[in-house]
Amino acid sequence: MELTREEEAILNGEHGEAKALALEMIVRVGEVLGARRLVRITHAHASGVSYGTIGDPGLHWLEELVAKGAKVSVYSTVNPIGMDIVHDTIKVGEEFKEKQLKILNAFKAMGFDVTLTCTPYYIRKPSPFERLAWGESSAVIYANSVLGAFTNREGGPLAVAAAVVGRTYEAGLQILENRKTTHLVKLNFEPNDLSEWSAVGYLVGEKIGQGIPRYEVRIDDVQAKYMLAASAASGGIAMSVIDGLTPRGTYIIGEEERIEIEKKEVEEMFGAPEDADIVFHGCPHVSVSELKELLNRRPKKETWIAVAPRIYEKHKDLMEKLKGRGYVPVVGTCSVVSPIERMGIKRVATTSAKTYFYLKKRGLDVWLVKFSEV
Ligand code: F3S
Repeated sequence: MELTREEEAILNGEHGEAKALALEMIVRVGEVLGARRLVRITHAHASGVSYGTIGDPGLHWLEELVAKGAKVSVYSTVNPIGMDIVHDTIKVGEEFKEKQLKILNAFKAMGFDVTLTCTPYYIRKPSPFERLAWGESSAVIYANSVLGAFTNREGGPLAVAAAVVGRTYEAGLQILENRKTTHLVKLNFEPNDLSEWSAVGYLVGEKIGQGIPRYEVRIDDVQAKYMLAASAASGGIAMSVIDGLTPRGTYIIGEEERIEIEKKEVEEMFGAPEDADIVFHGCPHVSVSELKELLNRRPKKETWIAVAPRIYEKHKDLMEKLKGRGYVPVVGTCSVVSPIERMGIKRVATTSAKTYFYLKKRGLDVWLVKFSEV
């Protein structure tokens, strides 16, 4: 790999041990992926922030980085944690709480903006062609497909390394030629609910696994957020093209295999909210428009709404009204990254096929419900 003089100096430890370690990680991964050089990024986003996800090894690694003097070089944000930072709705226990706070402190010490959200684009919206190193699959696919930014699907540690050196390897989706569509998705029905779009994404991810699907659909950015997040969970998809929504010039139309999604397949994923222990909405974290829509309804069941702390604080009045209607906001976390089983929750109805995917894997009884029924 060709490195600049400055990058060579970083690698040789002239800018400190932490930077050298971080750059070495990026260079090694880049070499495996055939990268010829590194590129500068404007924003890193770290996933793997919940103690429930990374455990003691993750905590020790982060604390070691801090001890070596690691500091971020670019604007850097972090994913949700395993507990609500405002309320005690989610009972995690003292040990979990203590270690979760240590993880947060490590990120703070490195200079991360501890946004605790999987929707960093609601905090700072990247522009088309901006280069990022993001490590949350739902945010990665949204950045590439809706915002037209360029990011690979980084692992949590690699996103932290990129934050420290402000660079990533030039390979994969950092290169326009690799942003070529591979499939054309055809729907034989018109989804009319957010959750149905989410189910469509889930089925696309399940059917194609890898690739860059193109959708010829009319869809808004919130519907796209749900659909794309689900396809990134059930498949390894990091980018899609949505005609009319994905910024032009950020992708290439390739040779496309046609795949079809039937209404029946979508319907099979749905059940009734009444049978669940809780109903969960906000995977990925809610937008302000979703919150406003919820105000028109009253939940039939205990309904958790996952929200970013910054949105929660900024729209306190709206949140209070929602609480008054019976909704339960969970702040800076979600039902996937928190240990909800410890509370005896076994049956979850959700509007998100991403939550459906992960909670099913954890052995919970889970099904989709329409957003309009939440
Ligand atoms: Fe976000 Fe949790 Fe879903 S981190 S994307 S709400 S699984």
